Amino acid sequence: MRTRILPPDERGLAEAARILRQGGLVAFPTETVYGLGAVTDDPAAVARIFEAKGRPAHNPLIAHVGSLELAHRIAVFDRRAEALAARFWPGPLTLVLPLADRRLVVPAVTAGLATVAVRMPAHPVALALLRRLGRPLAAPSANRSGRTSPTTAAHVLADLEGRIEAVVDAGPCPVGVESTVVDLSEPERVLLLRPGGLARAAIEAVVGPLARPRAEEPPRSPGLVGRHYAPTKPLRLDVDEVGPDEGLLAFGARVPPGARVTLNLSPAGDLAEAARNLFRMLRELDAHPEVRAIAVVPIPAEGLGEAIRDRLRRAARTDTPAV
Ligand code: TXA
Ligand code: MG
Repeated sequence: MRTRILPPDERGLAEAARILRQGGLVAFPTETVYGLGAVTDDPAAVARIFEAKGRPAHNPLIAHVGSLELAHRIAVFDRRAEALAARFWPGPLTLVLPLADRRLVVPAVTAGLATVAVRMPAHPVALALLRRLGRPLAAPSANRSGRTSPTTAAHVLADLEGRIEAVVDAGPCPVGVESTVVDLSEPERVLLLRPGGLARAAIEAVVGPLARPRAEEPPRSPGLVGRHYAPTKPLRLDVDEVGPDEGLLAFGARVPPGARVTLNLSPAGDLAEAARNLFRMLRELDAHPEVRAIAVVPIPAEGLGEAIRDRLRRAARTDTPAV
């Protein structure tokens, strides 16, 4: 199979929708990262997502919707969920809620769980595609499982060329890190499962303090266990000195000297700009022939810094093999 590159216009989206309706796989841009889409009501199409990514079947997918009406058909919203959706959708926030209509979302999407992760993406091309389809799309990040998420169509092709029918190319993603995932399936607490493109403080302003799952609890987000977002080269975090065979990922004006190559996430120290550049620059240093290892300066923990630090920490882990 050759993977087709579709333009983000009327004809391109009509073709993308046609392929999806027939059970095909189409990668498409969202404001966070490129997603690998398949319709949520076709078990064979959903199975192909897991196959193309090499993703373990126990790791559930996010159902993307183009309307609140569709979101309400697939998931049960309480008042907290209503408030978050009203404030932040379309946008980089995923809500884990009790699953409602099981015909619209086959068990493979939720990995058999009684909950479903739902999100309405803010990218105009993603919304246009979803609204044209009128059905939810399951869409994990469009990378091979365990690898760095794609923020351009070229990144998608680097991982999935020949494994999927098409990619809609609309240029780089404006947010650059995946959505924030919160679990609202328990009435008494809101769990932050994955920091992401919507900062914690914005969410807490609506629903109060976010809890993190306790260490002894069984994992809620199987995809968040262990090493992830991994470059193939060793990664060193919070450095203040660099070796001559290292590639440096810098942030802000204070750049340690001596690296073979230096890429700056944001010379101005802007965390949103850093998030936008993170995965592209990691890929660039990973591919650079003269760089043996990657070193990263400390990144502040506020705002989008929480998501950036989370992705870097996972990428640097060596204890669990990438899945
Ligand atoms: O920004 C994003 O969220 C991107 C774009 C394409 O929308 N998608 C994305 O999908 O990052 P993925 O599959 O790479 O990550 C989804 C995360 C996984 O860690 C998964 O375990 C978790 O959400 N998840 C999905 N359904 C869940 C559920 N029912 N309960 C708990 N966690 C769930
Ligand atoms: Mg992913």
